[in-house]
Amino acid sequence: MERISVAQARKEESIGKEVQLQGWVRTRRDSKGGFSFLELNDGTCQGNVQILAEATLPNYETDVKKLGTGASVTVTGLVKQSPAKGQATEVQAKNVTVHGWADAETYPIQKKGATMEFLRTVSHLRPRTNTFGAVARVRNCASRSIHDFFQERDFLYLHTPIITASDCEGAGELFKVTTFDLDKVPRQGPQIDFHSDFFSKPAFLTVSGQLQAEIFACALGKVYTFGPTFRAENSNTPRHLAEFWMVEPEMAFYDLNDNMTLAEAFIKRIIQDALARCPDDMKFFQERIDKEVLSRLEHILKSEFLRLPYTEAIEVLLQSGEQFEFPVKWGIDLQTEHERYLTEKKFQRPVILFDYPRAIKPFYMRVNDDGKTVRAMDVLVPGVGEIIGGSQREERLDVLEQNMKDKGMSLEPYQWYLDLRRFGTVPHSGFGLGLERVLLFLTGMANIRDVIPFPRTPGNAEF
Ligand code: 4AD
Ligand code: MG
Repeated sequence: MERISVAQARKEESIGKEVQLQGWVRTRRDSKGGFSFLELNDGTCQGNVQILAEATLPNYETDVKKLGTGASVTVTGLVKQSPAKGQATEVQAKNVTVHGWADAETYPIQKKGATMEFLRTVSHLRPRTNTFGAVARVRNCASRSIHDFFQERDFLYLHTPIITASDCEGAGELFKVTTFDLDKVPRQGPQIDFHSDFFSKPAFLTVSGQLQAEIFACALGKVYTFGPTFRAENSNTPRHLAEFWMVEPEMAFYDLNDNMTLAEAFIKRIIQDALARCPDDMKFFQERIDKEVLSRLEHILKSEFLRLPYTEAIEVLLQSGEQFEFPVKWGIDLQTEHERYLTEKKFQRPVILFDYPRAIKPFYMRVNDDGKTVRAMDVLVPGVGEIIGGSQREERLDVLEQNMKDKGMSLEPYQWYLDLRRFGTVPHSGFGLGLERVLLFLTGMANIRDVIPFPRTPGNAEF
């Protein structure tokens, strides 16, 4: 007998096979005719498979008729064509074995219509719901697309460190890594003395693998890193996590235009694969989460991303006649409200903003001839705002050193980074895409806490 998944059992080609299925009961319906229907789900797809359990089963009264939502079972039986509408197959049970009961009174996700907020308090059980099963499958699909996209283009997958001594983004949003006893931190005068700490210096969880990716791009050409990233920014928004997954390609001999072209192709590929590989889950999001998600994604596949200099974007915002909470003027860091106005209202397609003011961007971005702006780019999409941040990197040693000094940085810890400019420097570029931001966009889910298995946000690190 073949052990198959619910996804396989739902297909017509399984008809006529004796199979074994294992999963969790979603519902049980008893019919007057002396038999019951079980809806079985095992997480392999959005749909369930219907099990027909007849009263002739030896444990029909003792087990089958007591099964409720959440119980786990093994069923063996014959896959048949279903007489009912909306499903190709059903399984006529020959044997039903119960592994674990789930008490209907106390099973926390028994009831329909539980809020997302409530489900966050039961993160250990929410993967069993339709919504979180679909999110998990689409997340898996996007992760696969990321690797496929870069592998097909001969990028090398690079593992960058989680613990690092450098603050790539210079924003100071770092989690410290130490083995010091916090009650007895050694000091030299007012300063902490790190000599006896594990790394003999301050160390942090990484905010980006970019600087290490640059090292490998400047030797191997095209690389990407994809892993967890940490930011101690205390922003309690539906778009920020303290721990998120970022994919960062870095390419030698790419300028900013090459970088934009790659970013656009990359986003389109992730969308295409989700639509093609997870049609049932995407249909679910459309019907139950966001009525516009499919039309938005299809529209984006057909649109060319607009490339707009920051300075022109400021003009557009100033002339928009909109009442923004944060006033607009040249030099500001754009807020989500500004980004969304541009991509959703004004241009109604993804927008790549570039050439941002030097003062609001990190030290590593290439300075333009005007001395005021840098070769930065942010990709903004409808519904979310920024999903990609990237730039062409400063490859000129003297300009880079000056920029770092202007930003008040000490050059000493970055000698390895400057060496890449001292020896065989090349123009190069890269970007970072936040996986969870992409998932918000793909699924139409409203809160980033609901597109990662175990969200880490201020005050939350359970599970
Ligand atoms: O714009 P960011 O900060 O860029 C960098 O870190 C660069 N070093 C990337 C590079 O050039 N290699 O972050 C990149 C992306 C953002 O556009 C966003 O999608 C995501 O990472 N991101 C977050 N996602 C969830 N929660 C947070 N707190 C995020 N911060 C950034
Ligand atoms: Mg950014």
